[in-house]
Amino acid sequence: STVLSSSRGALIVLEGCDHSGKTTQCKKLVSALNEASIKAEFYRFPGKYIYINDLDSYHRGTRTTAIGEMISGYLGRQQDIEDHAVHLLFSANRWELKPKMLRSLEDGTNLIVDRYAYSGVAFTAAKEGFDIDWCKQPDIGLPQPDAVFYLHLNPEVAAKRATFGGERYEQTDFQSRVSKNFDNLQDSHWTIVDADKTVEELHEDLLERVKDVINNIGNKPIGKLWT
Ligand code: TYD
Ligand code: MG
Repeated sequence: STVLSSSRGALIVLEGCDHSGKTTQCKKLVSALNEASIKAEFYRFPGKYIYINDLDSYHRGTRTTAIGEMISGYLGRQQDIEDHAVHLLFSANRWELKPKMLRSLEDGTNLIVDRYAYSGVAFTAAKEGFDIDWCKQPDIGLPQPDAVFYLHLNPEVAAKRATFGGERYEQTDFQSRVSKNFDNLQDSHWTIVDADKTVEELHEDLLERVKDVINNIGNKPIGKLWT
């Protein structure tokens, strides 16, 4: 046949513990891809903004979601929310952005995502009385990332990085339970990347890996997470 098919966008997630450099690297990836005329958008979870067209409008915050606002209040300690309930809010925040993510992917836009359901599970399961299987349930069926790059940093190095400790969850013992949970979530889509290097070195490393994923995506269907 003579049907022209262009590839869909790739769904690429960066995970890792707090202060491993995910946000910086995600933004640099999106800029580098756009400069190379490759369509890419930045997403972050928890995400407060539902209309994210580019980095600028992300920072201006065109529209906040009610769920994103509640999570922000919780993380900044202005508001307490019961542990199960907040777990479901983090998940609901991903589901509310799912239609927009799928539209972009189908339209050929690559998504570079700062945290995803793996963070959801790893953080809640680090709390007393939660198990990984329970934590995974609400995120089952979300769009399956084509690649997860896990930025690995040992907790002592992470603790030395700036302003560790203020926000909820930012204590070293909690973070080491989180990183053990991440180990349990690794699957065939994961690549562990050493994050203990300069921002530029890590960027070059990630950019090459991300381009590789994008070039090989073709039109394979978007999977469903944990099914
Ligand atoms: P973070 O990603 O550091 O954002 P910021 O840089 O804006 O503070 O903070 C998000 C925190 O939320 C982090 O401690 C991990 C946690 N988290 C969850 O507990 N569940 C989730 O589903 C997600 C996405 C994050
Ligand atoms: Mg933070």
